[in-house]
Amino acid sequence: MQVLVTGGAGYIGSHTLVCLLDQGYEVVVYDNLINASAEALSRVEKLTGKTIDFVQGDVRDTDSLDDLFATRSIDMVIHFAALKAVGESAQCPLEYYQNNVHGSLCLLEAMAKAGVNNFVYSSSATVYGEANPSPYVETMNLGSPSSPYGAGKVMVERILLDKARANPNFRAVSLRYFNPIGAHPSGDIGEDPTGIPNNLLPFITQVAVGKRDKLRVFGGEYPTSDGTCVRDYLHVMDLAEGHVAAIDWLATQPSFRGVEAFNLGTGNGISVLEIIASFEAATTVKIAYQTVEPRAGDLPAFWANAEKASNVLNWQAKRSLAEMMEDAWRWQSKNPNGYS
Ligand SMILES: NC(=O)c1ccc[n+]([C@@H]2O[C@H](COP(=O)([O-])OP(=O)(O)OC[C@H]3O[C@@H](n4cnc5c(N)ncnc54)[C@H](O)[C@@H]3O)[C@@H](O)[C@H]2O)c1
Repeated sequence: MQVLVTGGAGYIGSHTLVCLLDQGYEVVVYDNLINASAEALSRVEKLTGKTIDFVQGDVRDTDSLDDLFATRSIDMVIHFAALKAVGESAQCPLEYYQNNVHGSLCLLEAMAKAGVNNFVYSSSATVYGEANPSPYVETMNLGSPSSPYGAGKVMVERILLDKARANPNFRAVSLRYFNPIGAHPSGDIGEDPTGIPNNLLPFITQVAVGKRDKLRVFGGEYPTSDGTCVRDYLHVMDLAEGHVAAIDWLATQPSFRGVEAFNLGTGNGISVLEIIASFEAATTVKIAYQTVEPRAGDLPAFWANAEKASNVLNWQAKRSLAEMMEDAWRWQSKNPNGYS
């Protein structure tokens, strides 16, 4: 079975490639490398001993996509390709809608032309918006996220529902990720953000490795146990396995039609201070930090109800918080400058 992986050179995509290749899937990676390095793909090839068919291209380039589908026998598509910085999306909303929403439309159109009907979408917990209480459950209504990034995720989920209503053969899974952290246990692939990291763990590991002097903790007076934000952190390898579970499920449910959404999280909320303490305990490296003003739009706390993924996909997050920290640290200390 051949799986097209858009954005496959990125953080979650590269870890998912390892799992797909280990399970015997053939992969075609399509990525414009705007936030990734081809080195990640070479490392995946070394880790798995398999070859990756890589095409450098943009999901908005319809000719290139048509050519891609015409020259391969693609059965399923996993669509990771997107811009992902929530704060940046408020500064350049059009670029985000253009890349993330228009890009998804171009891909869906190319799939329709090629008669490919199986789609796995990288959605996010952000689609629950600001009004739903935690734990988030898939039966809740889609919310109205304040950021263009989040609004784009809601738009694409709606587009998938409309597409499925109009096309009785269409089959899609929306995977709503919570907060992936960590790295492959080899330390050979991991998260390699350009510039100042947006996410907590790369920030912590960059402080630990001496690239930055201190971590900024956004907000210390939230209504949580220690005043810092609470999130549902899961190991990126667990998340990667969630994609294989989704692909396996589509492959073994030939009569399924429509769109099914699944939360991929652990079901546990962990605060920023707990993450720092857990990193220090797992690595014996001290993290200097300073509490600064809260970021606009950050919710105090949210976490997943992950029962549906367990019941339907037979998927559960298995790795511990200590493993997340140890693996993130192994990646950063083996690769202080990421892939460059
Ligand atoms: N990392 C998270 O915390 C998180 C949480 C929820 C959802 N997501 C979603 O998961 C997906 C993957 O995230 P990630 O953390 O691996 O990000 P990433 O930036 O590491 O990976 C995205 C990849 O897509 C590529 N890309 C971007 N725009 C493209 C385009 N127009 N055409 C072709 N390739 C393009 C980038 O070069 C990159 O390799 C994204 O859709 C993101 O919104 C991520």
